[in-house]
Amino acid sequence: MTDQQKELALLAEEFEDCNQESGLHIQLVMNEPKAFDGFMAHYGKFSGVTNYIAMIGKKGPELDEKCGYYGERLVLKAQQLGLNTCWVAMTYSKVKTAFTVNSGEKLCIVISLGYGKNEGVPHKSKPVEAVTKANGPLPGWFRSGAEAALLAPTAMNQQKFVFTLNGNKVSAKAGLGFYSKIDLGIAKYHFEAGAGKENFTWA
Ligand SMILES: Cc1cc2nc3c(=O)[nH]c(=O)nc-3n(C[C@H](O)[C@H](O)[C@H](O)COP(=O)(O)O)c2cc1C
Repeated sequence: MTDQQKELALLAEEFEDCNQESGLHIQLVMNEPKAFDGFMAHYGKFSGVTNYIAMIGKKGPELDEKCGYYGERLVLKAQQLGLNTCWVAMTYSKVKTAFTVNSGEKLCIVISLGYGKNEGVPHKSKPVEAVTKANGPLPGWFRSGAEAALLAPTAMNQQKFVFTLNGNKVSAKAGLGFYSKIDLGIAKYHFEAGAGKENFTWA
């Protein structure tokens, strides 16, 4: 087994937990070179990608946010294992034989996996004040949550989410824009990690 295959096997364990908890049908696609070999993929910044995560689940209003939330859990796990990732909504080809989409389900988005040429570069983040609302000063945990959310990737670096504090309840809203519900799920996963789940409940 190569190093990457070992890391992917460890990641597969996290998949099981995510699928059980969420009811999603997330699949690991390995040794499939076609999805990232087309014009669109090269137009993006991909080369040599043969492994990716297919975020699949039951069609419905909650699918995008759920895929964002659990996909980002897998992204952070992959990074901890030494694998780099990129969320990809557009610039890939759908290779339908590589994964299973049951009736009533939909492929929402994929996440490429591999060794990046580098570890990525920090993006520009909005100030915390631009993505939070509260009556009064922000508690430390709430600020930490928002800061972590601002480190999350969003499609086209939009960061169009807002976290509102009410007592120890937090509501998170997506703005308008492409893939903003997926972005919201990603940001909520980061918010929880930064704020500490024990400090609040989602409204
Ligand atoms: C929901 C979503 C969809 C994305 N779709 C694409 C895509 O189709 N092609 C691509 O090259 N990058 C895509 N990206 C990657 C973003 O361009 C990149 O993550 C974003 O600019 C933030 O940069 P960062 O990862 O350095 O923080 C997507 C990111 C997200 C969150």
